[in-house]
Amino acid sequence: MEHSSGNRLRALSCWLAAAACCAHIAAQSRRPQAAFIPFEDARPALQHLANLIPDELRRKDATALSAFWPEWTRQADARIRARLAQGDEDSLVNLLLFGTSFTTQPRLTARQIETIIGSSADSAVAGSRLDAVTEARLDDFIRAAAQPNGRERFLFARSALVARGFPLETVEGQRQARAYLLRALARVLKEVDTLHGLIADAERSETPGAAFATRSGLYRARGLASDTSLAPNFAIEEALKSLRAAGRLPVSMHRVAVVGAGLDFVDKQEGYEFYPLQTLQPFAVIDSLLRLRLADRSRLRLTTFDVSPRVNAHLREIGARSAKGQPYVLQLPLDASEVWRAPFVAYWSGFGDTIGRPEKPLAAPATAGAVKLRAVRVRPEFAATIEPLDLNVVLQRLELAQDEKFDLVIATNVFVYYNEFERALAMANLQSMMRPGGLLLSNNALVELPGSRLRFIGETSVAYSERKDNRDTIVWYECSD
Ligand SMILES: C[S@@+](CC[C@H](N)C(=O)[O-])C[C@H]1O[C@@H](n2cnc3c(N)ncnc32)[C@H](O)[C@@H]1O
Repeated sequence: MEHSSGNRLRALSCWLAAAACCAHIAAQSRRPQAAFIPFEDARPALQHLANLIPDELRRKDATALSAFWPEWTRQADARIRARLAQGDEDSLVNLLLFGTSFTTQPRLTARQIETIIGSSADSAVAGSRLDAVTEARLDDFIRAAAQPNGRERFLFARSALVARGFPLETVEGQRQARAYLLRALARVLKEVDTLHGLIADAERSETPGAAFATRSGLYRARGLASDTSLAPNFAIEEALKSLRAAGRLPVSMHRVAVVGAGLDFVDKQEGYEFYPLQTLQPFAVIDSLLRLRLADRSRLRLTTFDVSPRVNAHLREIGARSAKGQPYVLQLPLDASEVWRAPFVAYWSGFGDTIGRPEKPLAAPATAGAVKLRAVRVRPEFAATIEPLDLNVVLQRLELAQDEKFDLVIATNVFVYYNEFERALAMANLQSMMRPGGLLLSNNALVELPGSRLRFIGETSVAYSERKDNRDTIVWYECSD
């Protein structure tokens, strides 16, 4: 290896322990177009967050800034979208470390790393064992990418590696791909180290809310990943219950948006990838709204906003399949070795009841460890209520008529990729698409500027399991008149 991965993997282990933390074709033709944020709506962020605005904006006077704004928004949009390639690279690294479908080597999740480290009193021996597992996983990964045999994750891996100039049909191409993956692994582990340090510093701070504020923009310099899991959807359902109890729900909850639906490629906690790629959040939100009797299914419409072509293509494919009457099956594996809290287990057990019926789950390989399995077959009519749109919420919005505006916007694990200036722009875009009384629910703190119509009104904290930090806080923002 180009570096000893033992220490870095140990750092990853600490991080993971600490941070445990997508209408069918007819509808597509009526799709509203995304517009860039006008200068007037960005003015508060430019004025109040002057120390965070990019240099190329800071150097201009008001007239020049206003003239340059349309060009800047397009450049900034391209820069954000360029971050997807690095997020894809991160996904490949997660697959390499945690995947079970291509290798018999142990997964390098936090718990497995701890097991390997704990198996020897000599840290050098434990480090060598971690390096040996990583090396063997790399060999198996390259073999699978060279011959994907229809496996979608490895078809993706192969196209990503070939696009980077590594012809996997040759020995030399495989050698280059292997070296590239090692560099990507080293980069990811270094980032993880840095982020771990940032969180530790914030946790030591005496400023109230410093840790949550730091976590809320933690990935501002990272690639845009598409990872998703079930857990944040439980937190959203709990937030909806709390809002109902507090009498803070809007009268109607039928126009709903999910920002950043994500795609379950291989998550960095359990690393399961023994089932087809899937998206969860749009279905989870519909399921919660119906279970809590907050929406009438015949009127419910859910729009997704995402910058990822992969996520958007997946969601469009779901719509096309639903138009042919084909169901969508969600696999819901649950790590049996984690001590989950009872309310989360109850959510997992009942997930999907209002939108489908239980289905025989796909079997997990032995390498996946102890895992409880559930699957839900979603009825096609629910997939047809989802309208996927390509939209960069930091820089774009839909220009909607009043009766088209959203009652509820859900955005989990999205704003974490942006700094305060970008989050303030996103907030301006979201409020322009929301109805008075509408709600935005996020697990990242947003930036309220003077004049903002989106205002913090409360929060819900939930723990998923007994593991430290395996929890979320959902912040509630209400759109005023
Ligand atoms: C880490 S995933 C989160 C998925 C899901 N919301 C969850 O919590 O499990 C982030 C998602 O946000 C999308 N995303 C990132 N930046 C975005 C932006 N500026 N506008 C719209 N979508 C964005 C990504 O493409 C990805 O689908």
